[in-house]
Amino acid sequence: MKIAIGCDHGGIALKPAIVAELQRRGIDIVDVGCFDTSSVDYPDYGAAVARKVASGECDKGVLMCGTGIGISIAANKFKGVRAGVAHDEFTAKMIAEHNAANIIALGGRIVAPEQAAKMVGIWLDTPFGGGRHAGRVAKIEAIEDENFR
Ligand code: RB5
Repeated sequence: MKIAIGCDHGGIALKPAIVAELQRRGIDIVDVGCFDTSSVDYPDYGAAVARKVASGECDKGVLMCGTGIGISIAANKFKGVRAGVAHDEFTAKMIAEHNAANIIALGGRIVAPEQAAKMVGIWLDTPFGGGRHAGRVAKIEAIEDENFR
């Protein structure tokens, strides 16, 4: 599996613990930045990761900003991307099981690095539930078909 990872200055504190968890699992990592705490714009990194997931170059993505919210909004502008914000273990499981999220978005001002790494593991280990959830994801895809050129 190949995972794209990206963050802004608000999320970079989470990166080392998450990278360590992905490496422990033998996952290939494509790091699109940022690489230090200088102030940057989260849409640039949300788009960079989403582009890799939407194109199929990467299987999934991990995004981090201050809250996980802004960077997920940017990523969700790409067809086929379902970026879900997770704030705890429960929401990390739900975005996989119910929403088939192919990107997890985390807040560096919300969760601690070790908790974030654990949440990424839960998201990766949780299969999509299918059934009624598949019908709902299909409706999201129909909305994309209607609105994306
Ligand atoms: C940057 O200060 C902050 O706005 C950003 O990291 C994120 O929280 C936006 O949603």
